[in-house]
Amino acid sequence: MKQSSANLQLTAYVNDKFLPLEQAMVHIEDRGFQFADGVYEVVACFGGGYLDLDAHLQRLERSCAAIEIVLPKSLEALKDLVQQAYHKNPYEDAMVYIQVTRGVAPRSHVVNQAMQPTLVITVRDLPLPSDTKLRTGVKACTLKDIRWKHCEIKSIALLASVMGKQEASRREVDEAFWLDEKNHMLEGCATNVFAIIDGVLVTHALDHQILGGITRDMVISLAKDLGFVVQQRPWKLDEKGLTECLMSSTTNAVMPVCAVDGQAIGAGVPGEIGLKLRALMLEQFEELRHAKV
Ligand code: PDD
Repeated sequence: MKQSSANLQLTAYVNDKFLPLEQAMVHIEDRGFQFADGVYEVVACFGGGYLDLDAHLQRLERSCAAIEIVLPKSLEALKDLVQQAYHKNPYEDAMVYIQVTRGVAPRSHVVNQAMQPTLVITVRDLPLPSDTKLRTGVKACTLKDIRWKHCEIKSIALLASVMGKQEASRREVDEAFWLDEKNHMLEGCATNVFAIIDGVLVTHALDHQILGGITRDMVISLAKDLGFVVQQRPWKLDEKGLTECLMSSTTNAVMPVCAVDGQAIGAGVPGEIGLKLRALMLEQFEELRHAKV
């Protein structure tokens, strides 16, 4: 059992070394800093059991391949580093952040020299949204999508997401959902989004406009296990028969969304299907504690 205290020393991994967090540095000419030229992952760990670590590492590999960065470690070596990073930090339930950038070079857009990619791993506490939040309900707003056209890559270039979250915070809601030109719901700044429409689980199909969330896959498979039909298609908030809205991410699990743009969704309280999916997902998290990697 780890001691859980925010005052304990945090440890970060940077380029082959574990260091106290405040001593872990990257160069100012790192292309992550200069160009946001890199990708990342956030993995949840519950009491030493990881939630779909392989799927996260495979997505990291795909993101790297998409921008032609060669992962500096094998997936097996990365897995080992993630586990070491978790054990060197004080949290029982943690989010492990992995970032890979193209590396350090004099600032030039064109990549014309061999570079050693920068690899950083940090670990933070993972408090899942509380029951109070669940009772009062998550609220969201919608914004026109201002992001680039490769949202399937988990890029560290998150300026649009930061702006979206800032706007959500100004409007005193928890998340902002991006809309395409025809007002279809795409995803949130840091979540995937779903609706229950006529009892069917509906979510945007995987394409360049959304990130293929690992938690999204879990929601889909749990819904199928419960016997629900799942449709991956464009959808709008004002569709007839829409009774629930849900969002999912590593840091939120699956969360019912009770109001969007000031309008109640269904009865304005968490719906039955969303609550059921969340309960099943949290059960799976608990099981991870007993099945440590
Ligand atoms: N965000 N869509 C976007 C744009 C995201 O940034 C995220 C995750 C998701 C959900 O993906 P997953 O289920 O694999 O966590 C969807 C992470 C948690 C973050 O940036 O902190």
